[in-house]
Amino acid sequence: MISNDNFWYKNAVFYELYVRAFRDSDANGHGDLAGVVEKLDYLEDLGINCIWLLPIFPSPLKDDGYDVADYYGIHPDYGQLEDFKQLVAEAHKRGIRIITDLVLNHTSDQHPWFQEARKDRASKYRDYYVWSDDPSLYSEARIIFLDTEESNWTWDEEAGQYFWHRFFSSQPDLNYENPAVQDEMIAVIKFWLDLGIDGFRADAIPYLFEDEGTNCENLPQTHDFIKRVRKFMDDNYPGRILLSEANQWPEDVRPYFGDGDEVHMAFHFPVMPRIFMALKQEDITPVKAILERTPAIPENTQWCIFLRNHDELTLEMVTEPERQWMWEQYAPEDRMRLNLGIRRRLAPLLNNNAKKIALANSILFTLPGSPIVYYGDEIGMGDNIWLNDRDGVRTPMQWDASPNGGFSSAESVYAHAIQEPPYGVETVNVAAASQDPDSIYHVIKRMIRVHKNNKALGWGDFAWARSTQADKVSAYLRIYDGQVLLILHNLTRLEQNISVELPPEASMETPIDLLSELTKGSVENQRLTIEVPPLGYYWLKLL
Ligand code: GLC
Repeated sequence: MISNDNFWYKNAVFYELYVRAFRDSDANGHGDLAGVVEKLDYLEDLGINCIWLLPIFPSPLKDDGYDVADYYGIHPDYGQLEDFKQLVAEAHKRGIRIITDLVLNHTSDQHPWFQEARKDRASKYRDYYVWSDDPSLYSEARIIFLDTEESNWTWDEEAGQYFWHRFFSSQPDLNYENPAVQDEMIAVIKFWLDLGIDGFRADAIPYLFEDEGTNCENLPQTHDFIKRVRKFMDDNYPGRILLSEANQWPEDVRPYFGDGDEVHMAFHFPVMPRIFMALKQEDITPVKAILERTPAIPENTQWCIFLRNHDELTLEMVTEPERQWMWEQYAPEDRMRLNLGIRRRLAPLLNNNAKKIALANSILFTLPGSPIVYYGDEIGMGDNIWLNDRDGVRTPMQWDASPNGGFSSAESVYAHAIQEPPYGVETVNVAAASQDPDSIYHVIKRMIRVHKNNKALGWGDFAWARSTQADKVSAYLRIYDGQVLLILHNLTRLEQNISVELPPEASMETPIDLLSELTKGSVENQRLTIEVPPLGYYWLKLL
């Protein structure tokens, strides 16, 4: 059963799961909700606390379900509402929570609201969307899907006007100035909460409102609406969460936490590319700089951090020279790039170097925030850059060495499982990984367990420790309620001998590494002397 702790998200490990890719229970070539149920034991054993499902609503799939045609149903490929209820019940039995995407900002152009709106100016649905005769309005708003869209306005022949959209032109933006739209969304939220869902990833949250003369992001009206949603949830469904997708600088994300009365969680987008920079430069400085620029957040809120997700590795929150450098380093081929990002998975980005993959995960699991694992990254899955858009990082989960990787027994599947070495199903699969005690899967599983058992990693304060070689071997403390952890990461390919000044609270004479359960280094006069192997890391318990 799930705990009754309303602050569960403070020290949770999340697992992002694409239903179509996970497990096909009825052999039609598409993963489905019943398939996820089949694999819950795997997820329970992995140790994660909460699953985030990519959109599961009926949709023409022009943006893989982020183009919603009906907020009250399940895409027929995935099953029915009954299957969803079953999934929630089975997950909860195993202590696992479920959240899914709440696509607030836009609908599909196939949604009945839009169909009505475009047909008839007098329809009440006309004002559900944002129309104009003049496509030069809101010209300061940037275009997000740069590789496909030329404008945020698209002419609609039937409507005889332009409609506003921040994403694909098949995704008209809803008009949040219209109170009826706000009420519709509250009703949608209520519907899913009544089905037992544990919260939402609030998609594309910065773009709900538009105002001439602004960049139409993070407007005060947006915050007012999210606060209204939060109040509705707190009043009626305490313990259910809002996780915001605001791909913004830390100072612009901070207001989404409000005074602890807006979102519970927000992704920390800018920290992600900087982990990759640090790994390549063998220097933690980029991560340090962004954390220093990150304001404190209310005690009842939490960051959500990740290495990869279902989208391109976004380079929106870096400087132009940094972006060029990241592309050169991590996306040498054109097909690896998309919009302002890189469409590759974790293992290929890190050259399938097991030590680097482990190191990257160790950073993820110890920085402030709750970590998210993207399905397949726990076994080092590869990608297929020859597929369109972001499909290359959404290929079938690799369960075993059979041709479809155990994902489906259908002959024709929505996408082929990766076949080519070194990432093909023959070698990269759950069955093989779980039998190999040295696999990345076991490394990550262990990190999940230790993370869960040590509240300092979720709730703890964060502080850099004073140490020698501080750029090459990052040293930080996580401190909470009588627990002091010192986290070390050697970013270099050489062994490093360092000495770290310990905080006064640290009392352990021989620190124990929580991951290996071995003692490491030696302490004298409140200084730790320790050797950290190439690309090595320790999570040391000092108290
Ligand atoms: C978010 C999703 C992305 C989607 C977009 C539009 O950024 O992560 O996959 O395309 O919103 O809904």
